[in-house]
Amino acid sequence: MKHLRILAHQQLTSLASYRLLNAAVFCVVAFCIVAFGGVAFGTEPPSPIDFKKQVLPLLKERCSKCHSEDVRIVGLTLTTAEGIKKGSQNGPVVIPQKAIDSPLYKRLKQEQMPPGGEGKVFDAQELELIRKWIEEGAKTE
Ligand code: HEC
Repeated sequence: MKHLRILAHQQLTSLASYRLLNAAVFCVVAFCIVAFGGVAFGTEPPSPIDFKKQVLPLLKERCSKCHSEDVRIVGLTLTTAEGIKKGSQNGPVVIPQKAIDSPLYKRLKQEQMPPGGEGKVFDAQELELIRKWIEEGAKTE
């Protein structure tokens, strides 16, 4: 009888430590997901954003069909730093540090540009890149 009780006790403690181990593993995994998830899944681009390497190529690829130096719909050129700073016939399209007030970001976020099947709309990661670039001051050097 005494022997049985000891056995039960041993099983219980090993069950408890198994649970503890499980909880510890869960915590470590959860921490990793929270801590590195942003980087691993690419939602958080490293700062500062490099305009020439990251922003300009993206705008050239997706917007040049209609907003280049040759085709300047609404007077807007998005293939050069000068064009981006100048904006369109309606005014600036980028307001440094104010992504949500910047027409360029708004159009991208609302999936209005590129319009109707004229190119791939920006995914979450690309949007975040543009947002961060504007928030960092929309530098073009
Ligand atoms: C197929 C042609 C086409 C492409 C490609 C295109 N646009 Fe446009 N864009 C237009 C037209 C047409 C207008 C004017 C009508 C309007 O305001 O919706 C416009 C207007 C805009 C405006 C508003 C300018 C203002 O001050 O009124 C912004 C900002 C803009 N585009 C950004 C972009 C960006 C960024 C891209 C690339 C991701 C892009 N566009 C790609 C045709 C295009």
